[in-house]
Amino acid sequence: MNQVRDILITSALPYANGPIHIGHLVEYIQTDIWARFQKMRGHRCWYVCADDAHGTPIMLRARAEGISPESLIERVAAEHQADFAAFCIGFDQYHSTHSPENRHFAELIYTRNCDQGHVAQREIEQAYDPREQMFLPDRFIKGECPKCGAADQYGDNCEACGASYSPAELKNPRSAVSGAVPEMRRSEHYFFKLADFEGMLRDWTRGGGLQTQVANKLDEWFNAGLQEWDISRDAPYFGFEIPGAPGKFFYVWLDAPIGYMASFQHLCERTPGLEFDRYWGADSTAEVYHFIGKDIIYFHALFWPAMLHGAGFRTPSAIFAHGFLTVDGQKMSKSRGTFIRARTYLEHLNPEYLRYYFAAKLGAGVDDIDLSLEDFQAKVNADLVGKIVNIASRTASFIHKRFAGQLAANLPEPELFAEFVAAGETLAAAYDQREFARAMREIMALADRANQYIDEQAPWVMAKDPGREAELHGVCTQGLNLFRLLIGWLRPVLPATTAAAEDFLRIEPLTWQALSQPLLNHQVAKFKPLMTRIERSQIEAMLEASKADLTSPTAATTPDPDQNPAAPTLDPPLGATIDYDSFAQVDLRIARIVEASLVEGADKLLRLRLDLGGEERQVLAGIRSAYAPESLTGRLTVMVANLAPRTMRFGVSEGMVLAAGPGGQELFLLAPDSGATPGMKVK
Ligand code: MSP
Ligand code: ZN
Repeated sequence: MNQVRDILITSALPYANGPIHIGHLVEYIQTDIWARFQKMRGHRCWYVCADDAHGTPIMLRARAEGISPESLIERVAAEHQADFAAFCIGFDQYHSTHSPENRHFAELIYTRNCDQGHVAQREIEQAYDPREQMFLPDRFIKGECPKCGAADQYGDNCEACGASYSPAELKNPRSAVSGAVPEMRRSEHYFFKLADFEGMLRDWTRGGGLQTQVANKLDEWFNAGLQEWDISRDAPYFGFEIPGAPGKFFYVWLDAPIGYMASFQHLCERTPGLEFDRYWGADSTAEVYHFIGKDIIYFHALFWPAMLHGAGFRTPSAIFAHGFLTVDGQKMSKSRGTFIRARTYLEHLNPEYLRYYFAAKLGAGVDDIDLSLEDFQAKVNADLVGKIVNIASRTASFIHKRFAGQLAANLPEPELFAEFVAAGETLAAAYDQREFARAMREIMALADRANQYIDEQAPWVMAKDPGREAELHGVCTQGLNLFRLLIGWLRPVLPATTAAAEDFLRIEPLTWQALSQPLLNHQVAKFKPLMTRIERSQIEAMLEASKADLTSPTAATTPDPDQNPAAPTLDPPLGATIDYDSFAQVDLRIARIVEASLVEGADKLLRLRLDLGGEERQVLAGIRSAYAPESLTGRLTVMVANLAPRTMRFGVSEGMVLAAGPGGQELFLLAPDSGATPGMKVK
């Protein structure tokens, strides 16, 4: 066994104004699997989380329900914890950011950063609701789109035409809280000077604690320049008042990550021997990992390490970002019934189905993951019911009926058992690297092997021949031992099924270590089916119920207050290959931009007239944010010439020009070396 490690693991803290849904569960299931795995390996490992209880949306939600924010967050905390428990998310501590521990650490971290000169003060101008007497976050201003005039558009982009703008440009703006016309008012804010930490953050980024795609994103942010971060909000606000600044509160995102510390502190208080400083002190040798979604990378990879460093605490060992969940290839949608709450799922399906499916989809990267409902049903039925549970059900009844529940004293095929045990280390490495999909594939390949063994031995034939009693005993003992290994390796993913299997086998909770020895000469209990198949009707019923949730009063989350900014786009890692023929089908040509012009009503597009050496094409290209039309006239670029024409609202686009980069202002149109001429084929 390798050395025992001290590991602290967190998941992002869910907002306390809405229910847990299956999108959230990607993260809590991913983290929980990893934490359970580390514990099974014998490490000292703690998994903490909390509700993220502060901020304007929570304050307004409570007001809309006519209750205090405290009672809202108390009710939601209970709902969240019940959902998590039902999905077997095994937190060692679940706390709240609205807690004395969190106030303590928020004040401490803020004060220390102030003392080091990392906090600035200045006045800013902001929209103010004179009726509610409060400043309005962008999302709480609505009005008519300045581009297309669509009514009732929120914040800074139009759902009708896709335009983006500043909330100040909205026509006939109104407060979404009271309907009053907002005024502009000035007030003093506090800013965290992130740029003070650029050197430290660049080092930290290169320290190996970040996924490549995340580190690349950070480089882009460094190059764009680190901005001061507004960490204060004016009253009324539900949060912690800033020490020495009456009427000013910490912005929710300041004290949210500090909630990780607060939750751990609470755990320390009730766990003899567990010391806070051992994990968070500047010279800590423990490991600290944050699992997060890709939408909150900026907060975790820049602000958080900087704040910690400025206050004399250690920085995280690594941040593990995951992608977003889609259902059947699309964003979760309330009208399609795919915005599925944890609670609604639980009313129809076994939580371990979803744990397994997510495990089978998750890798160490930040790619989005898709829940394809048909694949979900097929995979769970084939793998868990058809392969894993089947091994036990095919052998257990003979042990029970013919051998009084007693396993044989020897394995007939010790090499096969040893082969499986050896695979355990490969599986452990996959789990440790968060390559769960790989681990699941390998476990299922071994399950196929175990089933094949049983097929070949055909115990049901032996059972008919009294002379083959010992052989039958051996084969069933072998089968159950292979089952024990497989279910043991699935323990991080299927804790409840594994616990039921452990009851059946009458064994202690399995550890990785214990799995290397076979179970022989041992009495097992009567076998009960461990899991049943998913029926399509259960899935249909869940979708129907999710549509119904739409109309229930508790679903009144006004304009989907997803408080986070849009997730940054991350370039995927270099991926799968294609064959030459597929590549050769793409007709790439050199084109000259004869004319480039703005497209009325589309703020992202330019209309390009392209010369392909005799033939002309019109292409609508989404490059307006990076190029002024005049700068493009006359230059050469590369286009996909055989793309089927696409009719857009602004005309037909007959091909595509090629550009690199994340988008927005950072977009780089490809161009050939000089000498190339329009129409040349790119090979
Ligand atoms: N409160 C903040 C986190 C503060 S951490 C100091 C927050 N809350 S959240 O409720 O919006 O999201 C909680 C976690 O769930 C985040 O990591 C977020 O990325 C993740 N997900 C929310 N919706 C998701 C999907 N549809 N798919 C995958 N993960 C998603 O952000
Ligand atoms: Zn519009």
